[in-house]
Amino acid sequence: MAQLWGGRFTKETDKLVYNFNASLSFDSKLYKQDITGSMAHASMLAKQGIIEEQEKEEILKGLKSILEDIENKKLEFTEEYEDIHSFVEANLIDRCGDVGKKLHTGRSRNDQVALDMKMYVRDEIGEIDLLLKELLTSIYKIMSENVHTYMPGFTHLQKAQPVTLAHHFGAYFEMFKRDRSRLADAKKRLNLCPLGSGALAGTTYPLDRAYTAEVLGFDGPTLNSMDSVADRDYLIETLSALSTVMMHLSRFCEEIIMWNSNEYRFVEIDDGYSTGSSIMPQKKNPDIAELVRGKTGRVYGALMSILTTMKGIPLAYNKDMQEDKEFTFDAIDTVKGCIALFNGMISTMVFNKDNMEKSAKNGFTNATDAADYLVNNGVPFRDAHGIVGRLVLHCIDKGISLDEMSLEEYQEISPVFKEDIYEAISMKNCVEKRNTIGAPGAEVMTKVLALHKKYLEEN
Ligand code: ARG
Repeated sequence: MAQLWGGRFTKETDKLVYNFNASLSFDSKLYKQDITGSMAHASMLAKQGIIEEQEKEEILKGLKSILEDIENKKLEFTEEYEDIHSFVEANLIDRCGDVGKKLHTGRSRNDQVALDMKMYVRDEIGEIDLLLKELLTSIYKIMSENVHTYMPGFTHLQKAQPVTLAHHFGAYFEMFKRDRSRLADAKKRLNLCPLGSGALAGTTYPLDRAYTAEVLGFDGPTLNSMDSVADRDYLIETLSALSTVMMHLSRFCEEIIMWNSNEYRFVEIDDGYSTGSSIMPQKKNPDIAELVRGKTGRVYGALMSILTTMKGIPLAYNKDMQEDKEFTFDAIDTVKGCIALFNGMISTMVFNKDNMEKSAKNGFTNATDAADYLVNNGVPFRDAHGIVGRLVLHCIDKGISLDEMSLEEYQEISPVFKEDIYEAISMKNCVEKRNTIGAPGAEVMTKVLALHKKYLEEN
């Protein structure tokens, strides 16, 4: 009896081992890249006289029909194949017979998977870049419409100095612009072709690696075959850049959640991007913003995962590296979804401009300008700082703002104050006079907007 059970156990274990080892359930996502890479490889083999022209034609025809059948859902990814590479090759042999067996000449799954993954990431970076550009275009539009929309600027989440909505959104324009350049940079560095590196030590066949690199849109072949099959730096760089995108989106979401709260009422998120509560009828929750903020953890997780997977791997390929896929795919899909939804949310959001301006007025955000007024009238800044501190205390005591104080009250604290103090600390003056490059003043903001417009046209 024991033996019977034992026999059965061994069989089950084999199945478990097979499933544990297999990757088709997730790397089937790479089918297009795998087939494209194989086509380039087959063409190169024929060009170099390693296979016959006719054989190449048959292989290309077979690969093309596999691609079509996958896309038309005629061919399904069944679990009898270990990974996408075996799946494509086995199907090719089914369709073309022995000639299909020649495709893998001078190639290993190690350089094949490195190629597929690089091509996949390269394509996805392109798509994410487009989404980021659309987001920047929406931010630019909101900026252009809100050059004179005053709002409080914060430090320590305390009202600090007045800014404009254009200025606040402009900060995010810079962030997402940097994100695009980080991704472009990662793409540039990854764009060397590993195909032809073989398992780790190249091959004795006279492959033309520069040719396949060119056909597949790479800047050239990689220069060390061991590194080619063992390098996952480009995933670390891409996931790091994507983590930064998510960090930016998450900060922006956090602000929108606050601005949408009963306490702030700076914005109202459109019904389409809000959800209700199953118990509290009055509620309209900013779930989309919260989800984007929450999903940031997932993307950071992917980065931590690949960093940890790679840290102890000796050269060259090791199966650990199969773990590079699921989290990367998930992170890329997550980021794409988040950018698109976030863009829709801000494009449909309503800004309560009056509330923003009122809030800017009520928080002594013009206190620095009152101090600057004194400085312009000969008072040293440190003394001016102390005098305005007393003005603020007086206001807090009486429950008023700086512009509601009478001139007599001002002059009791410092005789330097004259009638023109009111103009000096008006919201308009506080903001519009700040015209150093990068500041919120309309004059300089208009110049910055022109630069943004040019950037969007050229990039
Ligand atoms: N499925 C593998 C991966 O994703 C492909 C490479 C397999 N290579 C090997 N020597 N077992 O990494």
